[in-house]
Amino acid sequence: MTGNLAIIILAAGQGTRMKSRLPKVLHPIGGRPLVGHVLTTAARLEAQHIEVVVRHERDQVVAALTADYPDAVFIDQDDVPGTGRAVQVAIDALPGDFDGDVLVLSGDVPLLEVETLRGLIDGHRAAAAAATLLSARLDDPTGYGRVIRDDAGTVQRIVEQKDATADEAAVTEINAGVYVFRAPELRTYLAQVGQDNAQGEMYLTTVIELLRAADQRVAAEIAADTASTFGINDRIQLAEAGRVLNDRIVRRWQREGVTVIDPATTWIDDDANLSSDVTILPNTHILRATAIAPGAIIGPDTTLVDCEVGENAIVRRTDATLAVIGAEATVGPFSFLRPGTVLGAKGKIGAYVETKNAEIGEGSKVPHLSYVGDATIGRGVNLGASTITANYDDVNKHRTEIGDEVHTGSHTVLVAPVRLGAGAKTAAGAVVRKDVPAGALAMSVAPQRNIEGWVEKNRAGTGAADAASRENSAE
Ligand code: UD1
Ligand code: CA
Repeated sequence: MTGNLAIIILAAGQGTRMKSRLPKVLHPIGGRPLVGHVLTTAARLEAQHIEVVVRHERDQVVAALTADYPDAVFIDQDDVPGTGRAVQVAIDALPGDFDGDVLVLSGDVPLLEVETLRGLIDGHRAAAAAATLLSARLDDPTGYGRVIRDDAGTVQRIVEQKDATADEAAVTEINAGVYVFRAPELRTYLAQVGQDNAQGEMYLTTVIELLRAADQRVAAEIAADTASTFGINDRIQLAEAGRVLNDRIVRRWQREGVTVIDPATTWIDDDANLSSDVTILPNTHILRATAIAPGAIIGPDTTLVDCEVGENAIVRRTDATLAVIGAEATVGPFSFLRPGTVLGAKGKIGAYVETKNAEIGEGSKVPHLSYVGDATIGRGVNLGASTITANYDDVNKHRTEIGDEVHTGSHTVLVAPVRLGAGAKTAAGAVVRKDVPAGALAMSVAPQRNIEGWVEKNRAGTGAADAASRENSAE
C-alpha cells in the first residue's frame, strides 16, 4: 500500500469479560493470539508505522509478539482509560510531522481480511474523508457501538450500548472498531474528547461526532462479510470466531485439493501447510507450523503439532509434536511421537509406541509396545515387540545407537549408553548393558531350567496340578 500510512492496533484493555488471567488479546484462535491475527493482516499493508498500544499485562503482551512481529512498535497507554486515549498516546508517538492516514484496528477483532482494509483505505482516500469507519449489519448487535445516521443516511455519531437509548439500541448497524483517519484531524479532535459517558472513558468514537459537528466528512463502509467484523469480548465469542476462522482455513485447503472428510471436526491452524491430495479423516488437529506433503493420509483422531509429514505417509490415531515422518512411512494407531522424533522414509512406528529424540532410519520399524528415546537407529532395523531404550539413569539421559539391519528380540531392554553394531541381534528378553559388536547375537537371560513335577508336588489339588497330571499320565 503506497502513501503515508500508520497503523495503530489497540491491545491495552484487560478484557474483563473473558474472566481470564491471560490478557484477552493473547487468547489464541487458529494457533495464534487474537492480536497476532490483527498484526499478520496489518503487516501485509506495508505501512510506515505499526504501533501496538499496551497497558494491561504489557510485558506479557510484548513478549508474546516481539519475535513474530519485529516491525511492531509497542506504545504504553497511561492510566487514562478508553480507546480514545489509546489512539492518542499512539499518535503522539508518531513523528510530529506525520500527516498521512491512520488505520486504527482493534486487537480483539481478529477476522478482518486485508482486502477489506485495502478497500476501506482506498475508499477513504477517494472520498477525501477526514474519517472512514467500517460498519456491519448484525442480527444481534448486542454489545457493539451503534452507528447513528441522519435522515440523509450520513453518519452522525456512534453510541455505545451502555450509553444508548432504547431507540438507538434498536439500530442494527454496528461499529466494527476499525477506522481510517487523516492524522492532523485525528490529533485535533482527540484533544477535545472527554470522559463524560457511562464508562468514564475517553471513547475514540467521540471523534466521529466531533468531526461531524465541525462539518468534516465522515464516510462509512458496510462490511460485506459480517463475520469478519466479529469482536471478541467473551469466551463464547472466542469459540465462535475460532470456528469461523477454522471454516475459512479448511475451505482454503479444500480449494487447494485437500480432502477433508469432516470439516466440523477437523481443526487446522493458520500456519499449517498442506498439499494437494492430502486426506484428513475426522477428529484431526493439524496445529502450528505442521507441513504435510502430497498424498498423505492423516487421522482419524490425530493431533500433529509442528510436525512434518512426507509424501504418501499414513498417520492414524496419533499424537505427535515436533516430529518428522518420512515419505511412505506409517504411524499409529495409538502412537505418541514426542519432539525430536525423525522417522525415515518407509519406516514404521506402530501401536502403543512412544518415541522422543529418536532418529529412525529408512525402512526401519518399531511396530509394537516400545519406548524409543535418545536413540539413533540405522536402516532396515526391526525392534521386536516391547523393545525399550532405558535412556535415563535417574540423573542423566544417555543415547542408544543401533546400526543398520539390527533385529532385536521381543522385550529387549537397551540400557544406554549402548551401541548395537550393524546386523546384530538380541535374544528375547535380553537386557543389553554392553555394546554388541556387528553381527553378534546378544543374550543375557539365564538358560531355561525346567523342574519337572514341581506343580503336582507344590500345588496339589489345584486346577493346574490336575491338568498337569492328566497330560502327564496320558503320555
Ligand atoms: C469498541 C467500540 C465499539 C465497537 C467495538 C467493536 C469504543 C468506545 N467502542 O467497544 O463502538 O462496536 O469496539 O468491537 O471504542 N483498548 C485499549 N485501551 C483502552 C481500552 C480498550 O487499548 O483503554 C483496546 C482493547 O484492548 C481492545 C479494543 O481497544 O482491543 C476495544 O476495546 P473494548 O473494551 O473491547 O471495546 P468495546 O466495548 O468492544
Ligand atoms: Ca471489543
